[in-house]
Amino acid sequence: MNEKHTELLAFDRENIWHPYTSMTNPLPSYLVESANGVHINLATGESLVDGMSSWWSVLHGYNHPALNKALVDQSQKMSHVMFGGLTHAPAIELCEKLIRLTPSGLNKVFLCDSGSVAVEVAMKMAIQYWISKDLPNKNKMLTVRNGYHGDTLATMAVCDPVNGMHHMFDQVLTKHYFAPSPTISMFDQWDAKDTEQLEAMFIEHHDNVAAFIIEPIVQGTGGMKFYHPQYLKTCRELCNKYDVLFIADEIATGLGRTGKLFACEWAEISPDIMCLGKTLTGGYMTLAATLCTNEIAHGISNTEAGCFMHGPTFMGNPLACAVANASLNLLETTDWQANISRLEQHMKTHLLPLKDHPRVYDTRVLGGIGVVELKQNVEMAEIQKRFVEMGVWLRPFGKLMYIMPPFVTTNDQLDQLINAMATILNEDNCFKD
Ligand SMILES: Cc1ncc(COP(=O)(O)O)c(C=O)c1O
Repeated sequence: MNEKHTELLAFDRENIWHPYTSMTNPLPSYLVESANGVHINLATGESLVDGMSSWWSVLHGYNHPALNKALVDQSQKMSHVMFGGLTHAPAIELCEKLIRLTPSGLNKVFLCDSGSVAVEVAMKMAIQYWISKDLPNKNKMLTVRNGYHGDTLATMAVCDPVNGMHHMFDQVLTKHYFAPSPTISMFDQWDAKDTEQLEAMFIEHHDNVAAFIIEPIVQGTGGMKFYHPQYLKTCRELCNKYDVLFIADEIATGLGRTGKLFACEWAEISPDIMCLGKTLTGGYMTLAATLCTNEIAHGISNTEAGCFMHGPTFMGNPLACAVANASLNLLETTDWQANISRLEQHMKTHLLPLKDHPRVYDTRVLGGIGVVELKQNVEMAEIQKRFVEMGVWLRPFGKLMYIMPPFVTTNDQLDQLINAMATILNEDNCFKD
């Protein structure tokens, strides 16, 4: 590391917040110079195989020529114009694609800034819809434990209230209704008992519930659990039966990660509202979308306000839309499903057997997601350092080591990630007692 790098890191450590680490005694940050394909290149010269897709967002790899070109071309026309009173081809093209690709019935698109905002927009849509029906008391959310939907105040209120990261805010968060989380895994025999308590909550509270919100099939940050599609199907039925809107938070699962284009497809359901983010721009920049049905959009437009009460400054940012279009074009013209099933098969063969290690509680694989659930918490700074030494970028949390590599990762690169995890399992100093 040269003097300039040392200076940059010293400033960073002293002045810049990083996610979920102390400002006074932060975990180390590694200085990145560039990223290419599936590699993150550090200023110190190491080239790391990325197992995280920069938190579920990178699909086709870093520094992709088609995505770069889309950005450069668009920047030469306009990087941004306000969306109030103006519109443009990149946003129109993107919304046309999203309507075409998402499950049927989702015909109206609200473009917004980030996943958390997309979820807030979804919740506001649901509440405003019931106001239009003269049912303003239907303003709570029903959800399940172990969920994660974002870090803003409104989204924290639908994250797991106990095991989540936000329980210290309990006093200020809106109180919603929480059913037990699904317990039957995608790979086990379905038992209708799993939704009994959920139905009881629908029966008891539906008069006050605007929407039911859930991450379809994969509870991500809340434990990387894959639950049974029948659970999701029953959620849809319960929403219909008790007149509650269904919000599918596909921010982590959308656009192929589970092996289906949308995780809702595992249960062959369409939600009333769907949130997308993360992968939308192929991991290039922040953009999210909340889609809803005509019925909801018409209802909202019939309220006293006559419109939906939300409108971010960077709504429909042309650069973000242009790169999203390029990413979706690539997805549509490449055999992403073959890539995901290759990754899945490879992880099933090489990652699942890590279950036999005494430190491991469980291993599971779905689509492009591989999880090693541990019996102990990881020692973050140490494990991160060791992964970097082994040439991989992985960021475990709590008792979870997991990979969700870019779709274009080769089997050899995947082996590097899995071998690094296998090696780490034997290193005592990487785990808490
Ligand atoms: C399911 C889900 N919803 C919402 C979010 C929040 O997205 P963002 O971090 O872009 O605000 C996340 C982020 O991890 C997520 O996984």
